[in-house]
Amino acid sequence: MSPQQSTRDERSRLWRAIVADAHRYPSPHNSQPIKVRPTGEHTATLLYDLDLGLPAESFGIPFAHVCAGVFLESLSVVARAHGFRVDERLDFSEMDFAAANRLHRFADVTLQPLEFTADERVDAQIALERFRTRRTSRRPYSTKLVPGSVLADAGRISAASGFDFRWSDDPARVKKIIHVNQATLFDDLQNDAVYAEIMEWLRFSRREAAEKADGLSAEAMLLPGPILRVAMGRRGLWEAPVIGPVIKRVYLNTMRGVRQLGWLEGPFDGPGDYIEAGRTFMRVWLELHRHGVVLHPFGTVITNPRSHEQFAQIVDAREGDGRMAWMLFRFGYSKTPPYAHRRSPELMLVTEEVSR
Ligand SMILES: Cc1cc2nc3c(=O)[nH]c(=O)nc-3n(C[C@H](O)[C@H](O)[C@H](O)COP(=O)(O)O)c2cc1C
Repeated sequence: MSPQQSTRDERSRLWRAIVADAHRYPSPHNSQPIKVRPTGEHTATLLYDLDLGLPAESFGIPFAHVCAGVFLESLSVVARAHGFRVDERLDFSEMDFAAANRLHRFADVTLQPLEFTADERVDAQIALERFRTRRTSRRPYSTKLVPGSVLADAGRISAASGFDFRWSDDPARVKKIIHVNQATLFDDLQNDAVYAEIMEWLRFSRREAAEKADGLSAEAMLLPGPILRVAMGRRGLWEAPVIGPVIKRVYLNTMRGVRQLGWLEGPFDGPGDYIEAGRTFMRVWLELHRHGVVLHPFGTVITNPRSHEQFAQIVDAREGDGRMAWMLFRFGYSKTPPYAHRRSPELMLVTEEVSR
C-alpha cells in the first residue's frame, strides 16, 4: 500500500463507520444520490450526485435539496451515536442537472467531539436504533387514529424549524386527497420524461431489487412484480377496458385504511429553505416512528403541478410569498413494511484525491 493510500484510509476510517449507518437515509425513488468525500479524519464534503437526481419532475431541483436536508438530519443522528456533533457549512448554490461537474457540493461538515452524560449516550443509541428501523410503509393502514398528543409533538418539532405540520382526519377530505394521489400516478404516466424516469427506478423482481440495491421494488410497493411490469411497460393498459380497472384496483387496494394525512407548510423559496424543509421532514418522520407510527410520503402530489394545485385547494394551504405546502404523506399504523435495499456504503464514499 502506498503512503498516500494509507493516509486516505486513516482519513476515512471514522467516515466509513458513520456512512455504514447513514447510508440508510431515505431518498425519492430510493435513488441514493448523496456522496461523502472525507477531507480529514473529522471533516468531509457532502455532495449530491446529479446523475442520481430526478430531473424530469417539475420540482426536481427543490427536492434534490430536500434530500440533502434529509441526509443532514440522518448524519446528525448517526454522528451523535458515535459521540460527535456535526458542524455544517452549507453551500446554498443552485443545483444544475446539466452541470459538467456531476457532483454538486452542498456542505462541508466537521465532526466535533461531544461530552456525554451516561443518559445522553443511551439516548443517542436509541435514536440511532430508531433511524435504523425507520421504513416507508405502503401497506394498508389500520383504522386506528394516531393520538393528538403524538401529533402535537410532531407539530412542535416542525414549528421549531419554522414549518407548520398540519393534518386531517376528515373522511371526505382524506378521500379527496387519496384520489388526487392516485390520479397523480396516472397523470405522471402520460408525461414521457416522468414516465421514463419512473421506469428507470422500478425494480420488478426481488432479485433485481437486491442486485441493484436501489430504486422502488415491486415488493416495497406491494404489487406483484409481473403485474407491475405489464402495467408499467404498456402505459395504454391503464386506460384499456377490463384490464385498466383491474390494474387500478390492485394499486388502490394498497391504500386501504388511510384515516389521516399530514402535510408540511412553510418557507420553500430557495436552496436554504429546501434543505431546512428536508431536515424538518426527517425529524418529524423519526418522531412519528418513535411512537410506532408509519408514514408514506406522497411527494409526487407536490412535484406534479396539477395535483399540487388540487391538493393545496382541498386543504386550503397557506401558500404564496415564498411559502408552500411542500410535503404530503399518509400516516398511521401498519404491519412492518418490506425492506428497501441500499447500495453498499462503500459506494457512498468518494475517496479519490481532488484539487481543492
Ligand atoms: C423527499 C422524499 C419524497 C418521497 N416521495 C415519495 C413518493 O412520492 N411516493 C412514494 O411512494 N415514496 C416516496 N418517498 C419514499 C422513498 O421512496 C423511500 O424513502 C425510499 O424508497 C427508501 O425506502 P425506505 O424509506 O423504506 O427506507 C419519498 C421519500 C423522500 C425522502
